[in-house]
Amino acid sequence: MAASSSIPDFALEVVKKADSITVLSGAGMSAESGVPTFRDAQTGLWERFDAAALATPEAWNRDPDFVWSWYMWRHHLVRATAPHAGHLALAQWEHSADVTIVTQNVDDLHERAGSSHVHHLHGSLFHFRCAQCSFAYSDEVDDSEPHESPRPPPRCQRCGGQIRPDVVWFGEMLPSKPWEAGVQAVDSCDVLLVVGTSGLVYPAAGLPQIAHEKGIPTIEINPDETPLSRECTVSLRMSAATALPILARSR
Ligand code: OAD
Repeated sequence: MAASSSIPDFALEVVKKADSITVLSGAGMSAESGVPTFRDAQTGLWERFDAAALATPEAWNRDPDFVWSWYMWRHHLVRATAPHAGHLALAQWEHSADVTIVTQNVDDLHERAGSSHVHHLHGSLFHFRCAQCSFAYSDEVDDSEPHESPRPPPRCQRCGGQIRPDVVWFGEMLPSKPWEAGVQAVDSCDVLLVVGTSGLVYPAAGLPQIAHEKGIPTIEINPDETPLSRECTVSLRMSAATALPILARSR
């Protein structure tokens, strides 16, 4: 693997010839839109809490009001952000190639940029279900800042159970449909872009290995080295909003 702070010609050539591009994105893809990554320190009411400790069934069972309010804070924060040039470049790319996004992110920035094939491996901040009977919840949610103490989640219209975010918590199984679509997209593309992920959380972090074993060129975009860097064809020490528009323009 070569690490590079600019895009080597061979990477531009690979992208130029590719008819199908798959993108595995992580929290670093949303960072330049102002959404903190999982390993960033949090802010405000939540700065004392580690995101990874809140996104768990144990945290929910211990204090559903607190976890629900944390997700409403994230819901509100994401609604106030906008897709950046990297998201927009991926959406534009659809006009000249098949582009499939396989994301670990629960925000909707890829969709708001205009990407039409997006698979959410870890669910979505904007989908909700009953924690008891899994019935989908489609009413509005109140994501305004809780003034005093955390507020309770809404109740299920079918069984009266508590409504939870339809996201994957640590220790929970990934939804099969996006996972199978993600494996298919990585297994059959001409080039895989691995953007803004620390490569620490499986099974998502195992997807680049599928491309590597098939000899599919893999381009990592991350200012930092990750455990995935060495199995990528090239690792660009660049940000998503910088590198993706350059790659998309090479078409
Ligand atoms: P992380 O927060 O673990 O990693 C973010 C990565 O993005 C890091 O490697 C950063 O170096 C990189 N990064 C930061 N800014 C960037 C930028 N502007 N452009 C490109 N890269 C940038 O987030 P994830 O790898 O997505 O799981 O975390 C994976 C999973 O761990 C999450 O989906 C979540 C968490 O536990 C669940 O919720 C199940």
